[in-house]
Amino acid sequence: MDFILETRGLSKRFGGLIAVDNVDIKLGKGELRCIIGPNGCGKTTFFNLITGNLKPSSGHVIFMGTDITGWAVHDISQLGICRKFQVPSIFEGLTVFENMRIPYYARAKPSVFGRTQLSRNVNAEIMEHLRRVNLVDQAGELAKNLAHGQKQWLEIGMVLASRPSLMLLDEPTAGMTVTETKLTAELIKKISEETNISILVIEHDLSFVKEVALKVTVMYKGAVFREGAYDEIQEDREIHDIYLGRRH
Ligand SMILES: Nc1ncnc2c1ncn2[C@@H]1O[C@H](COP(=O)(O)OP(=O)(O)O)[C@@H](O)[C@H]1O
Ligand SMILES: [Mg+2]
Repeated sequence: MDFILETRGLSKRFGGLIAVDNVDIKLGKGELRCIIGPNGCGKTTFFNLITGNLKPSSGHVIFMGTDITGWAVHDISQLGICRKFQVPSIFEGLTVFENMRIPYYARAKPSVFGRTQLSRNVNAEIMEHLRRVNLVDQAGELAKNLAHGQKQWLEIGMVLASRPSLMLLDEPTAGMTVTETKLTAELIKKISEETNISILVIEHDLSFVKEVALKVTVMYKGAVFREGAYDEIQEDREIHDIYLGRRH
């Protein structure tokens, strides 16, 4: 199998704390994978090491065959790794459609007349992305009027508009209702099936993982504790103990 992302012995120390401990992960091209684990086990730090927001203490990050360890954040995102943070970072005063145009402006080169022109295909492409994140009917709505779940979907739409090869989603269902969580699982699954984007999702909510029913990496105390299909993970007593705080 061809890998899009590989980490080798990836570690991060904060003083005496080892937040990420010697993590080896291989993500296949087009794969959709969940990373789960209790609060504070190093999931977000692991993402920060991949995106360049933090420099690893040791180890390597290989993306599409290139060693990107220590690269700057914008160079890594230009190479095709795009990320959605835990808190939505959309522009509340702009419409959904206008928010979706931002990644295109960020990428476009200014014309000789000093104004950035977006190609006509962009509008059609934006509507296609909005369809994928269930926001076609809200295209003209101000972002501030969206429900919490819809704001998260808009941000996933903006990540899609950045045309990533690898999409990193950090707790996309945080604060969502049960219905929104289910819909989010469905739309992420749909994106994975309809595009060739590889997707890593950090998730705390096991009902989400069940809905997507994919390969799962379980982190515990900074390290990879288990890796396998959802059904195997779900039957693992030790993982239940981790979640219920019985294991220390
Ligand atoms: N910038 C930082 N400085 C010091 N400690 C940090 C920093 N970021 C995270 N940590 C610590 O690293 C550990 C892992 O945190 P984090 O990656 O956010 O966990 P998770 O996302 O799994 O909840 C926690 O103990 C957290 O307090
Ligand atoms: Mg986190």
